[in-house]
This record gives sequence, C-alpha cells and structure tokens, in this order.
Amino acid sequence: MALWEIYYTPTSVEETLQLLARYGSQARLIAGGTDLLVELERGVRKASVLIDISRVPGLDGIVLEGETLRLGPLVTHNRLVASSTVRERAFPLAQAAWNVGAPAIRNRGTLGGNLVTASPAGDTIPPLVAMGATLVLRSVRGEREVPIRKFYLGMREVDLAPDEMLAEIRVPVASPDERGIFLKLRLRQALAVSVVNAAVIVRLERGIVTRARVALGSVAPTVIRACEAEGVLVGGPLTEERIAEAAALAARAAVPIDDIRAGAEYRREMARVLVRRALAALAERREREAFPDRPPLLWGRSDGRFPRLAGRTVRHTAGGDEPIECTVNGQNQVIHGANGKTLLRMLREDLGLTGTKEGCGEGECGACTIWLDGIAVLSCLVPAPRAHGAQIVTVEGLARGEKLHPLQQAFIQEGAVQCGYCTPGFVMSGAKLLEELPNPSREQILHAIAGNLCRCTGYYKIVRAIEQAAVRA
Ligand SMILES: Cc1cc2nc3c(=O)[nH]c(=O)nc-3n(C[C@H](O)[C@H](O)[C@H](O)COP(=O)(O)OP(=O)(O)OC[C@H]3O[C@@H](n4cnc5c(N)ncnc54)[C@H](O)[C@@H]3O)c2cc1C
Ligand code: FES
Ligand code: FES
Repeated sequence: MALWEIYYTPTSVEETLQLLARYGSQARLIAGGTDLLVELERGVRKASVLIDISRVPGLDGIVLEGETLRLGPLVTHNRLVASSTVRERAFPLAQAAWNVGAPAIRNRGTLGGNLVTASPAGDTIPPLVAMGATLVLRSVRGEREVPIRKFYLGMREVDLAPDEMLAEIRVPVASPDERGIFLKLRLRQALAVSVVNAAVIVRLERGIVTRARVALGSVAPTVIRACEAEGVLVGGPLTEERIAEAAALAARAAVPIDDIRAGAEYRREMARVLVRRALAALAERREREAFPDRPPLLWGRSDGRFPRLAGRTVRHTAGGDEPIECTVNGQNQVIHGANGKTLLRMLREDLGLTGTKEGCGEGECGACTIWLDGIAVLSCLVPAPRAHGAQIVTVEGLARGEKLHPLQQAFIQEGAVQCGYCTPGFVMSGAKLLEELPNPSREQILHAIAGNLCRCTGYYKIVRAIEQAAVRA
C-alpha cells in the first residue's frame, strides 16, 4: 500500500502555504524525509498528502546579518557542518549537526525537520535553545515569531498549526568573549540517537563567567535549560569546584525516563558527566579539538544544495499515471506507476536496477546509497516523486563501458566483498568520497562510510580498497 495518496512538489513558498491552507491536517510537509518516511513506514504518523518543500527556493540560506544568523529550514546538517560562518559564530550547532546520523542522512536531513520532529533527543535543539534562537512561522494568515523554548509544548508536541510552516531560524551569534560546545553520549559512533546530549555556552570576561547557558537533551520530554547550574556559574571563574557544582545541579534538573537505550539513573548521571566535560573543555579551550578540519560530506564537487525544480507545482498521485521524468545513469527515463513508492523501489522494480539493495529500509544500513543530483543519499528514504526532474546515479552507472570504476577494481583486488549485499552502498559512498577528497586519510574514510554496514568482512578490506583506489587514481 502507498504511504501517501497525493505528492505535491511546489516551487515557491506561496504555493506551499496555499497547499497547507487547503489540506490542513491531512497534509504534511516533507523536507529530507529522514524522519517522516520512517514514521509513515512504521505507521506512527499518517498523512494522505505530502508537500515536498525540498526544492522550494529561498529556504536554504545561511546568512549572517549583523549579529543574527538567519538559517533557512532546508539547510541540511552537512551544510551546517561545512559552513565557515556556522563554525565560527555558532560552533555548537555545527558540532551538533556533525553528530547527526551519518553522511547520507546529513545530506538530506534538514535543520527544520529536526526541529519540527521535536524528538527530546534531537541533536540541533540544545544548541539552538542555548543560543536563544527564534523560529519564524508562516501561513497564508501571516507570520509570527516564537522563541525556541516556547515552541516545544511537550513530548514531540510543537506550537505549529497545521497550515503553518517553519520558514526561518534566527540565531543570535556568539560574541567574541563567548564560547560554546555540544557533546553527545551515544551507544556507537554513528547512526545513534543521543542517550544524553548537552550544549553549554559561557561568556568569559577577564576569566569571570558573566553569562552561562546549559541546555540538555534526552533527559526530559523536551530539551531543558539547567537554570540553577547556569546561576552558580555566573560571577566566578571556571574552577574545578564550580564546574563540579554546576554539573551536579544540571543533573538535578534532568527528569529522564528508562528506555531501550539507557536507564533513567544512568541518564541523570551522564548529564552530570557531560556538563562537567563540556565546562572543563571550555575552561581549557579544548572545545574544537574533536571537530574535523575537512569533514567528508559525500557531496563530491557540488556545494551540497539540491537544484531547484523549474516551473509550477507538480502533482503525483499514488494510484495515478502522472510520469516521473528523470535521468538515471545518463539515460532519460519516464516512469509510470511508481508515484506511491520509494526511490529505492522505483529503481529496483520499475527500472530493474537491482544493484541498489534494501537492507533495513530505514536509513540504518547504507545498502541503498545512490547519488541524487550528485549528492550521496539513501534511496529508501527518498519518495520516488522526489526524483522527478533529478539526475540519479546508481552503482550500475559507475563503470565506463567495460571499464570498472577504480574503486570497483580495488574492491575485487582487495577481496573486499563476501556476500556482496552491502557492496553497492560502500562503493557509492567511497566513490563519492574520492571525488571530493582524492587522497582521504584513514579517519576521513571511516567517517565517509560510517553509515554503511557490512555483516561479513569486518571492514578492513573495504577501507584498504578505498585507500588503494585513492593511490591508483
Ligand atoms: C538512520 C537515521 C539516523 C538519524 N540520526 C539522527 C541523529 O543522530 N540525531 C538527530 O537529531 N536526528 C537523527 N535522525 C533524525 C533525522 O535525520 C533528523 O531529525 C533530520 O534533521 C530530519 O530532517 P528531514 O528534513 O529529513 O525531516 P523530514 O522527515 O522531511 O520532516 C520531519 C518533520 O518535520 C516536518 N517539517 C519539515 N520541514 C518543515 C518546515 N519547514 N516547516 C514545518 N514542518 C516541517 C515534517 O512535516 C515532518 O513532520 C536520524 C534519522 C535516521 C533515519
Ligand atoms: S539505509 Fe536504505 S535500505 Fe538500509
Ligand atoms: S559483504 Fe556481506 S554484508 Fe558486506
């Protein structure tokens, strides 16, 4: 059964707002789809109409205006990571974005989607709460501004009417004497929801804290501020004793629950540990040490922005015959009957391109990695109508005639394949990495393939194959 009935691709904000006004709670905006498609698949959310805003112009800006950073809701996590403005003036947000999922998730997942999903573990929320961001909401009725703390009403509940969209995020940037950090505790290095996360910002004037913000995620139904902890920090230096006292008070603010990831007591204790570590790092000016200078993004040579769709709103109905017209591996395709499917299913079932594999169907394994307009994404989380007007490359499109891609050759030579199920995904991630960073370090390779899982080879040969392909290229 199709997950939606009608799929609109508007090409302006005005058209988007008209559609929201017309369909109200029947409709849902979709940006990167990395939350929504999983929710629809699991049946935890229903929406008969999807309105895809991912190609609406004017919603993906990163603009510094005076002391305010104006972010479009479509800014992806990887664009936050790569932006020098965000890194310099809103560093905890760049850190949080770097901690989301893995590269292909960060290429589609947006800041707006993360904020509206309103998970208590959502990684970009604590830095924005600590920085005091304001959200701009728009509808055909007008525009309103909501301070981020007031936007969150309860567990996954936000102050957003069915006909409203999040149109902008305004962030007061750090002053020269302010420093901040985001830390995340998780059960593994990538593709892991926060067990606890924390954003801490302090203003230090001649060694004395004159302002402090401590925001904690995953310890309450919404992200919280630890106001008592902030209070004890102000008025003195960041000494070990004051840090310990603030960390203990932060833990007292937490009201965590037990779930499959951790028990409540563990979470509370880890909130203390994370805040202590964050403050110690700020005291010793170590907050930037774990942040990579050249993070692999899997954009290749693009700037990470998806091209706009020209013309007016396009409508695809799940049971209808409107064609999806796109280019796949250099060939123009007109596909009928795939309007209610994911791109993964369209590639496999309608185009017979079975090289792209389905492992999990939820963004967790990377077997379905393809390139959408030159950017590595997970095709299980892309609705097929999103491919309309787009350029797609699958593993079948990598070889040049009889000549395999250097990485494909290296996989064979290094014996980096056992059952082979994961291989197309690794090859698509690895080839995109080599396009972007022809001589990647071991660490960059590990970051690039962090979203690709292999159950057979143990990764060593895969990493060696990427290194070998880099040497030969
Ligand atoms: C494998 C995997 C790993 C992940 N890891 C992390 C992680 O480590 N940390 C983390 O925080 N998240 C993680 N996520 C969650 C997800 O990737 C992020 O929350 C992402 O930012 C969502 O953005 P999106 O554009 O994909 O949202 P979508 O799925 O497109 O939308 C999410 C929700 O927001 C609404 N929406 C989107 N844009 C707007 C707008 N402009 N106005 C109004 N409503 C809007 C949609 O209607 C929907 O309800 C992960 C997800 C997956 C599948
Ligand atoms: S990530 Fe798409 S099938 Fe697993
Ligand atoms: S080779 Fe079998 S899953 Fe990777």
